[in-house]
Amino acid sequence: MEQPQQRWTAEEIEEAARGFEAASVLMAATELGVFAAMARKPNGMKPADLATAVGAEPRRLRVLLDALVMLGFAERTLRGTYRGTTGELLFEAHPDGLYHRLRHLHQLQMGWVHLAEVVRDGRPRETAATGKSVADLRCFQETLFVRSRASAEEAVRRLHIETAAKLLDVGGGAGAYVLAALEQNPYLEATIVDTSAVIDIAKEKIAAAGAAERVTFVAGDFFAVPFGGGFERVLLSNIAHIYSPEQNRALLRRCFEALAPGGMIGVKDFFLARDRLGPRDAVMFAVNMAVFTENGNAYTQEELAEWLTETGFAEVSAVRLESTRTQGLVVGRRPS
Ligand SMILES: C[S@@+](CC[C@H](N)C(=O)[O-])C[C@H]1O[C@@H](n2cnc3c(N)ncnc32)[C@H](O)[C@@H]1O
Repeated sequence: MEQPQQRWTAEEIEEAARGFEAASVLMAATELGVFAAMARKPNGMKPADLATAVGAEPRRLRVLLDALVMLGFAERTLRGTYRGTTGELLFEAHPDGLYHRLRHLHQLQMGWVHLAEVVRDGRPRETAATGKSVADLRCFQETLFVRSRASAEEAVRRLHIETAAKLLDVGGGAGAYVLAALEQNPYLEATIVDTSAVIDIAKEKIAAAGAAERVTFVAGDFFAVPFGGGFERVLLSNIAHIYSPEQNRALLRRCFEALAPGGMIGVKDFFLARDRLGPRDAVMFAVNMAVFTENGNAYTQEELAEWLTETGFAEVSAVRLESTRTQGLVVGRRPS
């Protein structure tokens, strides 16, 4: 049999393997608050002042700063001060939440270093629903809350939320989707189901938006806790990838029962192409789920559609979302 062509040089392979170096420099600087500190003076900060400002050991901080300059994330002025080149994007208070996203990526990186071990012994580093400290959980939920704003708005619009009276958001996280839905439909009432630690965060977010009276919170395991009934819309966003096909089928059955006849379900997720070789984000997300969950994976839209159809949903179809490059939506209707 013909051997596949060698397409890589040794240098290229090493370069690919060293991707962690630049990523680590960027994430460490973000976590230390170096970008916000550098911005305190318009002409940049001296390394010693920066070390005091962020509470770091001066010699190693200097090494980190030079690496940032070499990578293009900062510049060194003729006066020997350092200035960031990422604007306010990496400040903790920036509304796009990139700071929280990078902190979250750093937490993921700590699991990914054990990838070979996880693949060998089949045991995840922690389970996504249970393994997080309170601080990690908040960081994760803040990241999702901020990053999902645009796609939440589009997902609920594509579910025709304006014609519904009751929405159920299963694994609704901090409440970004529910808030988008309540904004689009002033007559809507919503229920969020999630673990009790996440429900505490959702309560804060919903109260801060002044919507507490329109939302019911259900804390508990969504495979067991009663959802109530008569919902006209059910949303499952970024849930399917945490669980196995069998678990997803069981959850879809619970969602079907919670829906009023004629009601719609929307399942939003990273979806793999049929050959499972792309897109890159979905393939890498499958690896992420292998590291952190017992049974999670990335799935194709066809798999989701098959599970929905088996459950009894009709009019099952895939909806393209314009607001996200990486996620899709599969919808279905409980027959009237
Ligand atoms: C990836 S987050 C998605 C949050 C939100 N739906 C979104 O798309 O941004 C998954 C959520 O499901 C919740 N979750 C996972 N398994 C759960 C379970 N068995 N019972 C209740 N909540 C669960 C997690 O706590 C988390 O808030």
